[in-house]
Amino acid sequence: MALPRAYVALALATTVDAFGKKKKELIVEEVVEEVTTSPIIYLVIALLSAGLLYNFFVVAKEKVEVILVGCGVPKRGMGWYHAKQLIEKRCPSGKLVAVVEPYFLGPGAGTPPGKEFKAWSDDVTASHGVEFSAEVPQAPVGKPRLAIISGRTGDNPRLLREVIEKGCSHVFLEKPGAPTVAELEGMAAFAKSKGVGVFMGYNKNVTKYVRLARAKEAELAGATTTFCANNAYKSTELDECFERNAEGMLKNMAVHELALLVSFYGVSVDTIQSVEADKAFSKCEKRGKFTDFSKIGFTIKTKAGKSVTVRADRCGGSFNEAVVTSPGGPSFTFKTPDEELGGQVKAMEQSEPGLMPYFYLQDEDYMTLKETCCAHIASGASGMPAGIATIEIAIDTLKVAEYLTPLLQKACGISK
Ligand SMILES: NC(=O)c1ccc[n+]([C@@H]2O[C@H](COP(=O)([O-])OP(=O)(O)OC[C@H]3O[C@@H](n4cnc5c(N)ncnc54)[C@H](O)[C@@H]3O)[C@@H](O)[C@H]2O)c1
Repeated sequence: MALPRAYVALALATTVDAFGKKKKELIVEEVVEEVTTSPIIYLVIALLSAGLLYNFFVVAKEKVEVILVGCGVPKRGMGWYHAKQLIEKRCPSGKLVAVVEPYFLGPGAGTPPGKEFKAWSDDVTASHGVEFSAEVPQAPVGKPRLAIISGRTGDNPRLLREVIEKGCSHVFLEKPGAPTVAELEGMAAFAKSKGVGVFMGYNKNVTKYVRLARAKEAELAGATTTFCANNAYKSTELDECFERNAEGMLKNMAVHELALLVSFYGVSVDTIQSVEADKAFSKCEKRGKFTDFSKIGFTIKTKAGKSVTVRADRCGGSFNEAVVTSPGGPSFTFKTPDEELGGQVKAMEQSEPGLMPYFYLQDEDYMTLKETCCAHIASGASGMPAGIATIEIAIDTLKVAEYLTPLLQKACGISK
């Protein structure tokens, strides 16, 4: 009696994933041949069906509960975008169960953005059963729960303590994590004392153009890289930008590049040999109560002889690039969006206009980070998943930011 080959192949393919691609193909081929002609066929059918049912009804249900703390308003808040990706089921291993919004469900409820937030939250509760509150809810006992923290940087130290005290087992903390090194060190110690793993939201550590640039630099002896980071604010939007990102250019925007330098270029306060400010490129502005760089450029040389350059521009446009230059040779530019991503960005802008430009540009990276963390938690693994920056990396990154800020202000003739 011949069992339909397609059925056997499908069932096997879903149950022997653990063996890897090559081995899996062999197993599938051999077993299909065997069971389509063998009398043990009924036993095999029963086993395979059980495997299929397990995959569809048990594995598929094991999603990690996620709460989002510090949502912000629709279309602008980083937390809102994390919530949107989860609600749209774009992170298969995570399920958004609650949103905590301390300001727009608290003192800011009566403001126009507060009303906009309320309308959105009512809709999400009705359509997806997500609970909204101004305070962190208690987590169920004995179950993993990930808290994504994306409040304003100054609020994040308090929010991290609250989610851990309310029983969350893991934290995904938006960069830079805290306004100061001292606060971030305190948060790391507290999380460690409670056995809570902290994943940092440094999305450029996983992004494609950085991966490609690092691979090219590794191929070329003596090559150096310039990381060019841009935001797309108009000059008229900088007052709001400086206020919302009050920790400043180096701890907020260029901190992504500093994290790359710490993660991949051996940069730390102890290893820096010299820093050269790009005075022609850099620009400092006073906006309302805040004085900050709207553009900053500098080159760091390490004691190990590595040289790397960063240029960050709040008003540079909606793209980022890394330029790899070999001594006396050509330069190679790796840009995001590339042609493929450019098409996706355009399509997203058309289908949902008016979002913060970096949401379109970094959409896939945000998803990759969250899914990597949720899948890691769901697997029961300890430690950190590959590619995710640790809180120790974030501390070293913030130390570099604190070291560079006065040095670059002085070099650019700024007295604060
Ligand atoms: N990884 C990235 O690419 C990326 C991009 C943007 C922001 N971020 C990070 O995400 C976090 C949140 O940034 P954001 O731009 O969404 O901030 P945001 O100010 O828009 O929102 C964060 C929170 O601030 C509070 N808030 C908003 N307006 C307020 C007001 N007027 N007074 C008091 N509180 C107010 C709200 O509770 C809100 O949830 C920061 O840590 C930031 O560094 C990361």
